[in-house]
Amino acid sequence: MKTHIDISKRKGERKEFSEASLVRIKELMSNVPEGKHKTAVIHVLHMAQSELGGWISVETMDYVAELLNITPIEVYEVATFYTMFHLDPTGKYVLEVCRTGPCMLVGSDKIIDYIEKKLAIKVGETTSDGLFTLKTVECLGACGYGPMLQCQYKNYEFLTTEKVDDLLNAMSNGILETYQS
Ligand code: FES
Repeated sequence: MKTHIDISKRKGERKEFSEASLVRIKELMSNVPEGKHKTAVIHVLHMAQSELGGWISVETMDYVAELLNITPIEVYEVATFYTMFHLDPTGKYVLEVCRTGPCMLVGSDKIIDYIEKKLAIKVGETTSDGLFTLKTVECLGACGYGPMLQCQYKNYEFLTTEKVDDLLNAMSNGILETYQS
């Protein structure tokens, strides 16, 4: 859960979905009764994040509200609640390190510290080359495999500083598909 989000600062340019995505959204809406289109918000926000620039501006939230025929606040409250939605421009790789109790007990704070020092950024910041953004998030459902982080919907578990080095190298060198966690 995020706290103290000032929606007015999340300004961006309005972008629109492709025809194929608009068809997909219509399909989604046809599967739920009139007046219940809010149930599609999470799905459509994921689509927006992936298709409209990697983050969700207030203009994008308003656009999603228009498409779903719901009020903007109904989109804001979802987008600002879940850490999986990025409300600022991000780097190519968003490193989301779990900081909840079970991961913290096995060293997530050390991993966060290590990444901050290695990339010379603080949590919430992006490296100057635009490659990495570091975030901390609440439980990602892999509590027995901590410390862990998620990036591009993939989990990297039982992290050590050596594993972090290997992972960041693989990302920097564009060979992430060969990285064995
Ligand atoms: S506490 Fe870290 S994944 Fe659950």
